[in-house]
Amino acid sequence: MIDTLKEHISQVEKFNADKADEIEAFRIKYLGKKGLINEFFAEFRNVPNDQKKEYGQAINQLKDLAQDKVSSLKEILENGQEQVKQYGDLTRPGAPFELGSRHPISIVKNQIVEIFSRIGFNVSEGPEMEDDWHNFTALNLPEYHPARDMQDTFFIQTDPDILLRTHTSSVQVRYMENNQPPIRTISPGRVYRNEAISARSHCFFHQVEGLYIDKGVSFADLKQTLQYFTTEMFGKSRIRLRPSYFPFTEPSAEVDVYWGLETETDYRMTKGTGWLEIMGCGMVDPNVLENCGIDSKTYSGFAFGMGIDRIALLLHQISDIRMLSENDIRFLKQFKSAL
Ligand code: PHE
Repeated sequence: MIDTLKEHISQVEKFNADKADEIEAFRIKYLGKKGLINEFFAEFRNVPNDQKKEYGQAINQLKDLAQDKVSSLKEILENGQEQVKQYGDLTRPGAPFELGSRHPISIVKNQIVEIFSRIGFNVSEGPEMEDDWHNFTALNLPEYHPARDMQDTFFIQTDPDILLRTHTSSVQVRYMENNQPPIRTISPGRVYRNEAISARSHCFFHQVEGLYIDKGVSFADLKQTLQYFTTEMFGKSRIRLRPSYFPFTEPSAEVDVYWGLETETDYRMTKGTGWLEIMGCGMVDPNVLENCGIDSKTYSGFAFGMGIDRIALLLHQISDIRMLSENDIRFLKQFKSAL
């Protein structure tokens, strides 16, 4: 009797299986209700008393061994299946990475940069967190100047001198402070205004501003440059300049481009006039030149500024400006561009 038990012990020790049904058969054979181990237990009462101790220990050993065997084989089997799940079929072709697409703001910005770079403008950038001097004072907007209210400003609470720039004109101030004419630069960037968020306006948006300073730069140069831009950008060469006011330019103008009235969309976009306002511009005020260390008797220049978001909405017929900052992949992946 004891010998049969010992025989089973060594069989269980040697047993190996890598299929679930083999392991299950092994479990039933030893540990099942009518399995060998229960049978051995039933035999216990027939074992002569002097052998009971040795016999009892052997059955317990067999039982522990069988249980350990079943659980360790099951574990190996499950780990193996997990690996299969993780790697799948290694002979299958790889899944291609989906390429992202450029954001409509970047597309429009790159177009504008490219158009101006063709006539010798470089790109300059500056900080989004500005001081009062670069955003206002140097631009002919001293403290308490009423025109400061034209743009609702986010101030950094701990320091009233620090704010989120309300326009990229601040970059032009920095550029003039560090470079002498001739200057031809455009400054794209994000700007902030404390405005209620709606389909048409947001508390942050993007601008590109241009600055041209040299000897003898005139309003005619400004007009010609803008006409070149609208022709390249929109394929429209008819523009008009309406007198306007900006503290940093004199004279100042608002630029409209004649979009036409060919389609229903043209009517909607231009409110039935055919004209579309696209930017502000003017001759740089001599005070601004002096504030930035440029001799206003020798040099003159022009500046202009436009909103990138508005142009992106226009060109791509997007009805809600909020879509530009929501990062909805379904929206963004519609835009493809070489630029
Ligand atoms: N900075 C002005 C704005 O944010 C735009 C502008 C720039 C106007 C340069 C004239 C000249 O509205």
